[in-house]
Amino acid sequence: MQKFKTKITDMLGIEHPILMGGMQWITKAEFVASVCNAGGTGFITAESFENDQALRDEIKKMRTLTDKPFGVNISMLPEVGNLADRTLGFLDVVCEENIPFVETAGRKPTLLMDKLKEAGIKVIHKLTSVRHAISAQQVGVDAVTMIGFGSGGHVGMDDVANFILIPQAVRHLDIPVVAGGGIADGRGFLAALAMGAEAVLLGTAFFATEESPVHKNIKEKIVQAHETDTSLIMSSIKNPARCVNNKLVEDVLEAESKGASLDEILALVIGGRGKVSYESGDPEIAPIACGQVAGLIHEIKPVADVVNDIINEACELHDRLDRIALKQ
Ligand SMILES: Cc1cc2nc3c(=O)[nH]c(=O)nc-3n(C[C@H](O)[C@H](O)[C@H](O)COP(=O)(O)O)c2cc1C
Repeated sequence: MQKFKTKITDMLGIEHPILMGGMQWITKAEFVASVCNAGGTGFITAESFENDQALRDEIKKMRTLTDKPFGVNISMLPEVGNLADRTLGFLDVVCEENIPFVETAGRKPTLLMDKLKEAGIKVIHKLTSVRHAISAQQVGVDAVTMIGFGSGGHVGMDDVANFILIPQAVRHLDIPVVAGGGIADGRGFLAALAMGAEAVLLGTAFFATEESPVHKNIKEKIVQAHETDTSLIMSSIKNPARCVNNKLVEDVLEAESKGASLDEILALVIGGRGKVSYESGDPEIAPIACGQVAGLIHEIKPVADVVNDIINEACELHDRLDRIALKQ
């Protein structure tokens, strides 16, 4: 098999430049280990755990499932001021457990940087705009994941698609850029590398795999969704999140159209609902983050097939490009 060696495969010590983004309640040890063992890497999401000890236990479990490098996702609330005590607790665990790299998201990781750097941990900050990426580079992050408008989950306020976002980020930054969102196959992978990305990051495509710990009904919902079957909720509170269309999304959009308050909206989208939906298999009762890329996902595959199919397809496409790029 041909390999793609990039600044990110070198930085993280992984075989393929394919990352699985953190997903609350979902990217736990077994699932993340399946991506690592397939040659990519992923992030255990700290926010899935009740406290520091539970995260520490998960990291220990992870080490019994893979000897490959893996990271932790630290998602923060988009507020100014101090960080939540929870976040600071997770930060200590990550440093004490010698985690090699973290994915930060939600707000600029300035307040985490001293400790992370002291512990020698690489920081990949996930965000949605080039100007914020420049500012993240200034506070010392090692790489950024740029999330385009079609991605699953929080997409920011700029509404810029990956085909513009990635080349702009590559042009303006010195640190490696990871193309986040909208990718499920070799076409998206190779296009991202052609635009200058050093790796890709997938959420929805892994969410719908065999190893994903959610109920089969939820995966089927994603497989059946077309690229037009997602909506942005929470735009009215300036924190838009792309989710698959369902009853709950309809309720939130209706509430927003009637001028619902922040508290009213938060009551509808509260994180615990997702956990119940994923476990019970009822796809209508929670906001289920999902990218437009759902339109490219046609079956529930094992994680290793997602990774290998991407690499194999990208190799074939690379050959095709070689054939059609005629030298004059
Ligand atoms: C079901 C689901 C849950 C997610 N939860 C989180 C999360 O807790 N924290 C986070 O930083 N990103 C979260 N994301 C975003 C992903 O990590 C990733 O950035 C995004 O899915 C990439 O876009 P794609 O879905 O188009 O591949 C979530 C995405 C999905 C699909």
